Amino acid sequence: MRVGFYQFAPKLGDKNHNLRKVAKILEKNRLDLLVLPELFNTGYVFESFDELYGVSEPINGPTARLLVRFAKDKNMVIVGGFAERSLGRVYNSALIVTPHNIHVYRKIHLFYKEKELFVSGDGPLVPYEVDGWRLGVIICFDWLFPEACRTLALKGADVIAHPANLVLPYAQNAMITRAIENGVYVILANRIGEERGIRFTGGSEIISPKGEILVKAPEDKEMLGIAEIDPKLARDKRFTPLNDIFEDRKPHLYFL
Ligand code: ACM
Repeated sequence: MRVGFYQFAPKLGDKNHNLRKVAKILEKNRLDLLVLPELFNTGYVFESFDELYGVSEPINGPTARLLVRFAKDKNMVIVGGFAERSLGRVYNSALIVTPHNIHVYRKIHLFYKEKELFVSGDGPLVPYEVDGWRLGVIICFDWLFPEACRTLALKGADVIAHPANLVLPYAQNAMITRAIENGVYVILANRIGEERGIRFTGGSEIISPKGEILVKAPEDKEMLGIAEIDPKLARDKRFTPLNDIFEDRKPHLYFL
C-alpha cells in the first residue's frame, strides 16, 4: 500500500491558494492514503474568532467536496485538517474521506491559544475500516496524550494519521515512541513556513510499527513523502517471543 504526507506552507486565510496546491498534488499522484496537515486549507494563527469563523466550513463545504472528488476519482483515502463550523462554533477537525464514506474527527486536546478560538472536540477515538485495514486519526497536540493513540490502537487501528501544525520540536521524536508502544504505522503530516511570527517545524514522517523512519521531510521544505507499507504487520503485537504489547498490559494497576 502506498501512503504519503504532503508537507507545505498553507497561506493564512487564502483557501483558494491552499486548495489549488493540494489539488495539483492530487492530480499528479495516486496514493492509497494521503495525509495533509492540520488546518491545511486555512492556515493556523488566527487573531480572532471572527477571522476563524469566516474561513470555517461545514462538513459538506467546498474543501470536503474537493477531497471527495479526488477520493472517488482516484480510489484513495485522504485525511486533512479543516476548521469545522457547526451550530455557531468552530472545531479543529480532520476530514477522513474514502471513496465511499466521509468521517470527521474533532481535535480533543487544544493547544495554547486554540483554547480561545475552538471548541474542544469529542473525537471520536475510533478507527475507520478501509478495504481490509483500519485508520485512526489524531490531530497535532493530541500526540502529548498517549491515551489517544493507545485507545485507537486497542480498538484496532493499523495506521495512525497525524495532521499537524507543530510549533515545538518534540512530537516528531515522540511519535516514534507512539508507533513502537502501540505497534502501529504513523503518518505525521506537519506544515512549514511562518505566520504572524510563529514558525512551524516541518519534519513530517512515516514511521513503521518498529519505530523505523521510512521517509522524513526537512524542517523547512515542501515535500510529498511516500512510503510502501503493509498495514497487516501492525496486527502482530509481539515485542519479543515472550512479550506482547497488548497482552502484557496490567490495566488494573494503571490510573483510569
Ligand atoms: C498544535 O496542536 N497545533 C501544536
